[in-house]
Amino acid sequence: MGHDTVETPNLSFGRGRTPGRSTPYAQYVRLDELHSLQHPRSKEPAELSFIVTTQVMELLFDLIRHEWTIARQALREDDLPTALAALRRGTHAQDVLVASWDLLGTMTPQEFNSFRSLFGEASGFQSAAFLHLEFLLGNKNAALLTMYDGMPDTQDGLVEALRSPGLYDEALALLARRGLELSPAHSEQRYRPSEEVAAAWRRVYTEPEFAALQPLGEALLDVAERVTRWRQRHLSAVKRTMGGKPGSGGSSGLTWLRKSAEQDVFPELWTIRDEL
Ligand code: HEM
Repeated sequence: MGHDTVETPNLSFGRGRTPGRSTPYAQYVRLDELHSLQHPRSKEPAELSFIVTTQVMELLFDLIRHEWTIARQALREDDLPTALAALRRGTHAQDVLVASWDLLGTMTPQEFNSFRSLFGEASGFQSAAFLHLEFLLGNKNAALLTMYDGMPDTQDGLVEALRSPGLYDEALALLARRGLELSPAHSEQRYRPSEEVAAAWRRVYTEPEFAALQPLGEALLDVAERVTRWRQRHLSAVKRTMGGKPGSGGSSGLTWLRKSAEQDVFPELWTIRDEL
């Protein structure tokens, strides 16, 4: 048997360094800060996965926002390839987001109960990053902004998202510029489906003249499906760990979450499928 020579990476960066100095890797990804952010409040071992899962999801919410913001801007500029590439990257991030529920897959009600009272009224419902995604999707609700009255920077970012056209609004505006009969008008209210929009997508999917826009419809559907998947997995996690008890954020819990999981994102892309 011969001896394979294993290539050694460059280790010289550590030589002669003053004690306490970290590696370039640790500096680049801010490892010390990252690993100093998990502070369970109980002795329950499962609480650490709860905190890590939440933090991972928060990071992914922001990553997805980054991609959807690029996509929205590209749609505004009629740059379909850039929009599709950003949506595609976002879709992969959404897949990781959905899979992150596995981290909480085995948590029992007893484990959850042993630290639940220690986080008081904290609820993911208060997540500004999640709300930003909701606004980008067109699920706007100005009343929720009062949660951030004490956080002007966060609130300003959300007000901007509330006032600006969402991802779907920009997609519909692009459809209109490409000759479909649409009078896009974005609003600060929750998006409501319309027959006019359904008719436009129907033509995209059935008329060769508009076939180049079909990949946009499919990319938006990929986004929509994964948003619902996240909501469904959240619902299962809630059902498994706290059943039908009320939520820490003050909602009815399961009933409220079930209603939101049942609402299709970008609704016309789903309804027109009856006829395709
Ligand atoms: C087993 C663990 C979890 C339970 C039992 C749970 C429970 C709940 C409940 C009952 C609600 C409804 C609002 C309320 O009254 O509090 C809610 C909302 C929410 N939770 Fe969780 N949650 C869990 C894990 C997570 C994690 C890890 C995240 C990641 C950030 C998260 C993010 C959210 C978000 C964003 C909402 C608002 C949903 C919406 O507006 O549709 N949850 N959660």
